[in-house]
Amino acid sequence: MNDALLLSAARRRQPPVTPVWFMRQAGRSLPEYLKVREGIPMLESCRRPELVTEITLQPVRRYGVDAAIFFSDIVVPLKAVGVGLDIKPGVGPVIEQPFRTRADLERIPELHPGMIDDIAESVRLLTAELGATPLIGFAGAPFTLASYLVEGGPSRDLAKTKALMYSDPQLWADLLARLAQISGEFLRVQVAAGVSAVQLFDSWVGALPLADYLAQVQPASASVLSAVRELDPGVPRIHFGVQTGELLGAIGEAGADVVGVDFRVPLDEAVTRIGPDRAVQGNLDPALLFAPREVLRERVHAILEAGRAAPGHIFNLGHGVMPGTDPDAVKFVVDTVHAWKPART
Ligand code: CP3
Repeated sequence: MNDALLLSAARRRQPPVTPVWFMRQAGRSLPEYLKVREGIPMLESCRRPELVTEITLQPVRRYGVDAAIFFSDIVVPLKAVGVGLDIKPGVGPVIEQPFRTRADLERIPELHPGMIDDIAESVRLLTAELGATPLIGFAGAPFTLASYLVEGGPSRDLAKTKALMYSDPQLWADLLARLAQISGEFLRVQVAAGVSAVQLFDSWVGALPLADYLAQVQPASASVLSAVRELDPGVPRIHFGVQTGELLGAIGEAGADVVGVDFRVPLDEAVTRIGPDRAVQGNLDPALLFAPREVLRERVHAILEAGRAAPGHIFNLGHGVMPGTDPDAVKFVVDTVHAWKPART
């Protein structure tokens, strides 16, 4: 397992071939996914170990990617502690009673491992099936989870989230600390059950300027990542957000081994912002999967070239696979990455 390409790249050991996997590779476009999910609500499907195992394995079988991503969702641990919420198809997470005041904190208790025995069971089933292919566990970062709780659902501008953060910094800090406990425990259960790496998704944190990120978000994310490090320092930690060009250095400093880069910043430029001590992951625009193969190949090669500036590179998209993506285009990217040979310098 320690020879796995993904783990070598995360540990900055420059493997002979660049590893590749895709955010949202499970679900979305695969017909075999739509078939097994038929009639089963999203959140329920995340809690059935046999189904989680099957869905997680589907993209590994079809694409030959270098890692599996655990099939779950960032709101699963919130539901597990008793927050009233649902995932609406085509919309995303919707919260019954959005977070407004200090009294709402009582409705978000701490997460204990016994509340998610099925998650540990799913990870054990998966690692037994996957053999040498690493399984990536994941959680939502405190800011992104808070944004769903406060907005009540997906939002374009995160106005209510920012209003809470700027108007009541103490309540905000207490909310993020609680969410850090929940995400940290969610990851520790996955690590204890056998995942090889973890990714902390702070998808929407790019909405903040650097100074506010440093003062009001980074400490909570750092506490999640250090909860994983304390349990097992050998498990690489990947940290990703969208539109985080201005935050890349700070996201690495929150305690990541690998910084996920979205498609807006070229990887060589990202390396100058992140520094030489961390690997990078990214960063093909998911929309390019709808472009002709020649264009796609050229863009994949450009990303692989730019990734050579980093001490380790894991190929991925700059965000998740979009609905309607042709699975053959995804497979084409995997094969193109695996066939690539860097030009001699
Ligand atoms: O590869 C994978 O799909 C792994 C599993 C995975 C899901 N969600 C399954 C899912 C992962 C890693 C996530 C993370 C997640 N969930 C994030 C962070 C990653 C990112 O994209 O930024 C966020 C912000 C969420 C919240 C969420 N859940 C959204 C925005 C949506 C999509 C709504 C939509 O349909 O457009 C969901 C639902 C969801 N999570 C689906 C899947 C497969 C679709 C549900 C379905 O098939 O009905």
